[in-house]
Amino acid sequence: MKRILVTSALPYANGPLHIGHVAGVYLPADIYVRYQKLRNRDIIHICGTDEHGVLITIKAKQEHTTPQAIVDKYHADIKSSFDNLGIKFDNFSRTSKPIHEKNAQEFFLDLYNKGFITPKTEEQLYCDNCKQFLPERFVEGTCPFCGNDKARGDQCEACGRWLEPTMLKEPKCQICHNTPTLKETNHWFLRLDLLQEKFKTWISSKTDWRENVLALSNNWLKEGLEPRAITRDINWGVPVPLPEARGKVIYVWFEALLGYISATKEWDEKRWADYWLSEDTQLVHFLAKDNIVFHAIVFPCMLMAHGDFILPSEIPANEFMNLEGKKISTSRNWAVWIPEYLKSFDPDPLRYVLTINAPEKGDVDFSWDDFMTKNNNELSDILGNLINRTLGFINKYLNNKIPAPKDYTLEDTELLSQIVITKENVEKYIEGFEFKLALKEVMALAKEGNKYFDYQHPWEHNERTSTVIYISTVLVCNLAALLSPFLPFTSDAINNMLGFKVDSWDNIGNFAVPSDIDIKEVKILFKKLDKAQMEKEKSKLGKALEPETPAVPEKPTISYDDFKKLDIRVGEIKEAVPVAKSEKLLKLKVLVGDKEKQILAGIAKSYSPESLVGKKVIILANLEPRKMMGEISEGMVLAASDANNIVVLTPEKDVPHGSPIS
Ligand code: 2FM
Ligand code: ZN
Repeated sequence: MKRILVTSALPYANGPLHIGHVAGVYLPADIYVRYQKLRNRDIIHICGTDEHGVLITIKAKQEHTTPQAIVDKYHADIKSSFDNLGIKFDNFSRTSKPIHEKNAQEFFLDLYNKGFITPKTEEQLYCDNCKQFLPERFVEGTCPFCGNDKARGDQCEACGRWLEPTMLKEPKCQICHNTPTLKETNHWFLRLDLLQEKFKTWISSKTDWRENVLALSNNWLKEGLEPRAITRDINWGVPVPLPEARGKVIYVWFEALLGYISATKEWDEKRWADYWLSEDTQLVHFLAKDNIVFHAIVFPCMLMAHGDFILPSEIPANEFMNLEGKKISTSRNWAVWIPEYLKSFDPDPLRYVLTINAPEKGDVDFSWDDFMTKNNNELSDILGNLINRTLGFINKYLNNKIPAPKDYTLEDTELLSQIVITKENVEKYIEGFEFKLALKEVMALAKEGNKYFDYQHPWEHNERTSTVIYISTVLVCNLAALLSPFLPFTSDAINNMLGFKVDSWDNIGNFAVPSDIDIKEVKILFKKLDKAQMEKEKSKLGKALEPETPAVPEKPTISYDDFKKLDIRVGEIKEAVPVAKSEKLLKLKVLVGDKEKQILAGIAKSYSPESLVGKKVIILANLEPRKMMGEISEGMVLAASDANNIVVLTPEKDVPHGSPIS
């Protein structure tokens, strides 16, 4: 193999990243790519945000904004989480870019011209109430295969099947919860049926793939591949490039998969072809189990239908990571969000815990107590301890200089050869996508290092001391190199303390560590965590996120003349008192120019009377006086409100009361 092309499933730009995403897809991919780059292999890592589809439009509705605003916000958010976790890409693109639209439309037309995409009129779910078709996640119901009653119109999370809305039993519109009806519409279908035989031959050669991937593909094959609709009646997406399909977009999965190719084209408009069109390239898709169907069946079939592209060589799909014994759920806020995590903790402890507990062979659980234990007992007590006791010793007792060794004993040479053995094992495991075992090997070496240090007691300052400390330094320096794919920040920190590093992966175990040179400042690598911190994190789980502003329907347009009728002014509150028997109302005396008005304001739950006296507020001065709780109100204090709070409007700079607002 000359080259490796790594893709990581494009995350939907509809929310921040959580630990499940990182553990399942991006961290293993990053470890793999970092390792291969250290070995000087020709490898690129391609990803980007998945910015189309119903999910994005639903999120936009929830946040009372446009799909474009949603994807702009979350693309930036996701990208910065990756940067801060040290997860690197050669290109991190977006499926809303023009280059992707062009690529997806060209690919669609190619398959259409070859007869692999054909039109058909069929009945689709339609909501009479919302006056729209209900593709994908606009509808939920019961899965016809496994009975899960929360299956979505595009996929059942419980059994992993790719569904169509019409397959769901008892479907419900996700916008208004009505039961939809069937209505005819024209769609274009990917003719998976025509590719069945070719696909079968190809997949049957993949005997060494992970069990979860083979099981799903074989299940599907048994049932037979059938034509699937790859166009949708929504207005957010890549337009179908056919004049007769005006108003329809390409199904998000069909185009998102092509996003890998678009992002590679964007990375290098010439070299992309070396990666996608040459049999000398190994294509590796990283993803979690809910994406298996699309990468192991749909995408290979699309690529086969086209004919010019290579097919995936490896699909190291992961299972799920649960959290404190429950499934991670975005809607219930049962998740550890990466931006939130990074406010309180360093990236490497998370990289460590998510790798050592990776969902490689089955679902796993993340718990904050386990996070603390692994940070304290493994990272700090084993790895951090070895590094700090070695470099600390040099700093404290050896004038900050790495000592020159004397003759080696059997223990010395055994430890040195253990470095080479560890390197070989790490290589074997990473090449086989067993990142958990690979990292365990490195940690086992650190443990050996501590044993050696304890057993050799350099603190006795005898003739062995300089050799023991030198050998320990060799180990520390090589550990930094071995850790670099897994814990890049720690690896850099160790190298910085030493002032040098192993010059290449191949030289791990053979690098000539210098002696008689000064080391740099010794720092603590891993802070110990305590129970109180963990309890604080646990208490955030399942709590409602910041309340979203409730949806207030827009009012009809008014004329400028109507607006001019409003007399809005700055007022200064002179007095504020509660209104008897009312929880909400305060009675205010407000100065407005040369007048004083009595205004009743429903702000008692958000403001104490004292806090208001002297405050400048904005009032509607010419509102018809009205009686409330037996008192007259001669105007209105303007305020903004969300679900929990009322906030009175105040002028941004001081202006005299009575000033008009226009
Ligand atoms: O499940 C997901 O998060 C999808 N956005 C993954 C898409 S992978 C590929 F199609 F790009
Ligand atoms: Zn509806």
